[in-house]
Amino acid sequence: MNVRSNKSEQHYYTVTYVRQKNQVALIEQRLLPHKFSIIRTQSYPETAKAITDMIVRGAGAIGATAAYGYAQGLNEFQGRDKRAFHRHEKRVFTTLAEARPTAVDPVNAMVQIRLELKQYQSIGEKQDQAVRLAEDFARANIAECRSIGKHGAGLINEGTRILTHCNAGWLAFVDYGSATAPMYAAQEEGKSFHVYCDETRPRSQGASLTAWELAQQGISHQIIADNAAGHLMQRGMIDLVIVGSDRTLAQTGEVANKIGTYTKAVLAKRHRIPFYVAIPLSTLDWDTPRGLDIPIEDRGDEEVCGAWGITPSGRRSYVRVANPSSSALNPGFDVTPPELITGIITPIGIIRPKQLMKHRTALT
Ligand code: MRU
Repeated sequence: MNVRSNKSEQHYYTVTYVRQKNQVALIEQRLLPHKFSIIRTQSYPETAKAITDMIVRGAGAIGATAAYGYAQGLNEFQGRDKRAFHRHEKRVFTTLAEARPTAVDPVNAMVQIRLELKQYQSIGEKQDQAVRLAEDFARANIAECRSIGKHGAGLINEGTRILTHCNAGWLAFVDYGSATAPMYAAQEEGKSFHVYCDETRPRSQGASLTAWELAQQGISHQIIADNAAGHLMQRGMIDLVIVGSDRTLAQTGEVANKIGTYTKAVLAKRHRIPFYVAIPLSTLDWDTPRGLDIPIEDRGDEEVCGAWGITPSGRRSYVRVANPSSSALNPGFDVTPPELITGIITPIGIIRPKQLMKHRTALT
């Protein structure tokens, strides 16, 4: 995506790998929209921590970060002992997989690389190929997001008013985004439309990240409080909902996404508003049998009890809002059942949630 500053416009990917230094470069998303900066992780534990701390976040972006972190970790190994390398590989995999539990993309990315690496014998070959495969994963992520855009653009007409939740945009992937991809494609086709960004408490990814992205892209938008969507729907002000997903169960068509998505899907059904979920292939979970089995991340009190922002001097700072002696419950994601979902926008086309399994060959 192009980022505008006073003087220029420059294209950035959310995550890249610096081969000569074995570093992973990440846009520091906790500082956006106030400050644009890039950080570089020096080791795989640091990369895992960047995922946990949400320097990088969003299913596709943490998928690519885990892929690069995995390659980074394998390249940190020194020596010739194959058994020691094998133990090291397991540690790298587990550390990155456990960094955040709900999104399936990191595990899918690393499993894919791990399988491919089996054909290479020497440690050196595995180290080199891991980098190539991580780069392939990131490239595929970009291409898939572009295809999502192509398939989803037809849902948007001149004047369509779209609601989106959280940030399933460029920052949540390597480039282009999933839920935003149809918007960017529709814009490229010359259509004008309006986007309502749910602010998405408790962390406000909609207000901070999606709104910033849409502003960079010159797309008409407004931030709404999470509680405003029902009112807008009742007044006929929303025509279409498009959200992303952190894990979509192929067996049932259930969709895990940022907390509050389920509420919006219930509201959309009540008001007969089409509700779409946009996903790349790495978000599909072919194994988990029920939504109830999806691990839902608990992010602790802090996000609910207050807010992070930037002081006038540019320092990242936290303000407590809630009653000091109260605690909070903070499930980061919820699960939307398939009967509330009109369609899943995938890189191969729009599919009904319960039909995903039928399209397995094309989707893998
Ligand atoms: O907690 P986050 O910010 O990593 O949450 C992920 C999300 O941004 C959303 O759930 C998003 O809609 C799906 S990720 C493409």
